[in-house]
Amino acid sequence: MIENGLFDLTGKVALVTGAGHGIGKATATLLAAAGATLVIADKDFTAAQDVAQQLGAAHQAVSFDLASQTSIEALFAQVADMHERLDILVNNAGIYPRFALDDVTQAQWEQMQHINVWGCFVVLREAARLMRQHANGGRIVNVSSIGAARTAVNDQVAYNASKAALDSVTQSAALEYAPHGILVNSILPGAVMPLDPRPKPAAHQPATGPLLSSGRMPLGRPAHAHEVAGPILMLVSAAGAYITGQTLIVDGGFSVT
Ligand SMILES: NC(=O)c1ccc[n+]([C@@H]2O[C@H](COP(=O)([O-])OP(=O)(O)OC[C@H]3O[C@@H](n4cnc5c(N)ncnc54)[C@H](O)[C@@H]3O)[C@@H](O)[C@H]2O)c1
Repeated sequence: MIENGLFDLTGKVALVTGAGHGIGKATATLLAAAGATLVIADKDFTAAQDVAQQLGAAHQAVSFDLASQTSIEALFAQVADMHERLDILVNNAGIYPRFALDDVTQAQWEQMQHINVWGCFVVLREAARLMRQHANGGRIVNVSSIGAARTAVNDQVAYNASKAALDSVTQSAALEYAPHGILVNSILPGAVMPLDPRPKPAAHQPATGPLLSSGRMPLGRPAHAHEVAGPILMLVSAAGAYITGQTLIVDGGFSVT
C-alpha cells in the first residue's frame, strides 16, 4: 500500500474494464496495491475471477460485454449495489482485429466502432453518472492507442479510427465534466508485451508496420503492461489532480523517431 502519498488510493472504488488480461489486469493490480477497492469487469469472467482472487476478498469480478448497452447498464447497477459510489474508471476493454484497408467490410468497420467507441462511450457516461451522485468528483482514463495519433501498424485503419474517436470523446467529456470535478484523459500505449500470452488463432498473421521497423523503438523493446499501468495510476491519483482532456503517449519514444 502507498500510504499518505501522492499515489495513495485508500478508500477509492475503481472499476477497470477488460481487467482479466493484459493492461487491464496490470492496472487493476497496481490500483489495488495503491489501496483502491477494485471492480474487475471482463467478458472473460473466469479470468476476471482469477484476478479478483489474486487481489483478495475486498475486490470483485463482474461479467460484462462491451458490445451490449444492456450489459454495460447492468454492470453499473452492480457497481452501485456493491459500493454505492465510483471514484475511478479505467475504460480499458477494447478489440483490435486488423483489416486491410482495401478489404475492410462495413460490418467489420461498424463492429469496431460499436465496441471501441460506442461501448466505451456508454461506459464513460454511466461511470460519470455514478460519480456525480456523490459529488466527490472522479477520474476517468480511456485506454486508446498510439495508432490514434501516429500510424504504427499496418492494416489498422478501422482500429486507429476508433481510437482517434475515443480520444475525441476524452476531450468532450473532460470539458463537460470539469464542473463536476471529473477529470478525463486518454493513455496511448505503443507496443505492449502480452502479460499472459494466449494462443493465436490459426489464421493469425504477425503484424507489420513502422512500429515494428528497425530503430523505431528507442527504448529497445515493447512496454511491459505495468509500464502502462504506472502512468494510469498517476492520472487517477492526487498526482494527476490538474490534468484533464489530455492524450498521454506511452510509446517508449516511437513517436519521436
Ligand atoms: N497490447 C498493445 O500493444 C496495445 C497497444 C495500444 C493500445 N492497446 C489497448 O489497450 C487495451 C487493452 O489491450 P490489451 O493489450 O491488454 O489486450 P488483451 O486482449 O490482453 O485484454 C483485453 C481484455 O478486454 C476483454 N474484452 C475484449 N472484448 C470485450 C468485450 N466485448 N467486453 C468486455 N471485455 C472485453 C478481454 O477479455 C481481455 O481481458 C485495448 O483497448 C487495446 O486497444 C493495447
